[in-house]
Amino acid sequence: MNNKQLIPHPQSILWQEDHLVLLDQRLLPTETVYLHCTTPEEVWDAIATLAVRGAPAIGIMAVYGLYLGIRSLSEQDEEMFWAQLDRIAHYLNSARPTAVNLSWALKRVVNRAKQLRGQPIAAIKEAIFKEATEIHEEDVTVCRQIGENLLPLLYDGMGILTHCNAGGLATGAYGTALAPLYLARERGWNLKVFADETRPVLQGARLTAYELQQAGVDVTLICDNMAGAVMKEGQIQAVIVGTDRVAANGDVANKIGTYSVAVLARAHGIPFYVAAPVSSIDLDTATGDDIPIEQRSPVEVTNGFGKPTAPEGVKVYNPAFDVTPAEYVTAIITEHGVCKAPYEKSLKEAVKVERSL
Ligand code: MRU
Repeated sequence: MNNKQLIPHPQSILWQEDHLVLLDQRLLPTETVYLHCTTPEEVWDAIATLAVRGAPAIGIMAVYGLYLGIRSLSEQDEEMFWAQLDRIAHYLNSARPTAVNLSWALKRVVNRAKQLRGQPIAAIKEAIFKEATEIHEEDVTVCRQIGENLLPLLYDGMGILTHCNAGGLATGAYGTALAPLYLARERGWNLKVFADETRPVLQGARLTAYELQQAGVDVTLICDNMAGAVMKEGQIQAVIVGTDRVAANGDVANKIGTYSVAVLARAHGIPFYVAAPVSSIDLDTATGDDIPIEQRSPVEVTNGFGKPTAPEGVKVYNPAFDVTPAEYVTAIITEHGVCKAPYEKSLKEAVKVERSL
């Protein structure tokens, strides 16, 4: 990592000599267990089963997974190499549908490889690994910069609500929504953070409360259905969430329940901020209606607390994400600055800055 600042939370993703090491977030906060992946199939499985989750993190894992899949391919059979590169990228991209960071990262690595077509396969393999590590390292810098850009919108002593986990565990480091909270802590501010527990799989309780507590940030856990009451009591002055995909019109997909929080924030006159790396902006998706929403197993809802909590055979609806319409979003904060409505224009501008670098 080229970032010299102390990272205040455990790392989710590590490349260790010749393989990928992942902190198994399904077991947090009670057990710290690392998974060792040596094949794309193991990485696919880790993404699909939420061993590591969060939009930037799954993009990083996928590109290391791609490298694991191509590294021992024959360097003589070029045609087979290029076919396999596309096949494995396509396969890894199928692990989860909503976060655009997955396809963004895979496309970036495949495009880099294709730019080098004609060179020896050994050199292309090396370039694929280099691009994967660059994506990983850049994410740390990008997240910190999102924190820097968000901090001026906040002030010492305020109450902040967050939903799901858009923290260090969901990224290379720092997180997106949680990055300003870590920077505020570094500067000696005292923010009072409320973490929604985030049913059905409790990313807020298991992960956000855990990583903030470890870093010494003042965090209070609430059930999802308490957010409105806490706002009404005057304890929240801003909401900050992450995102899995921002459509061209500023509609934002994020963990299920985010939309309800945005509506509540509007009802209480509280700003609703979305922290988003430019890699989460998808100008090819016109509106939130076009964002594919992952449907997950009913078991997450019926056995959420490790034992059955619903009658056997009951019908369940379990979308993993929802879409908050742009009109509820006060600002989208990227590593290149603060985007405000009209989002068609400001998001295009942020993407343009990225492409010009
Ligand atoms: O299902 P998850 O845990 O992957 O959902 C994660 C979220 O919704 C995060 O808020 C989003 O990916 C942003 S992470 C910086």
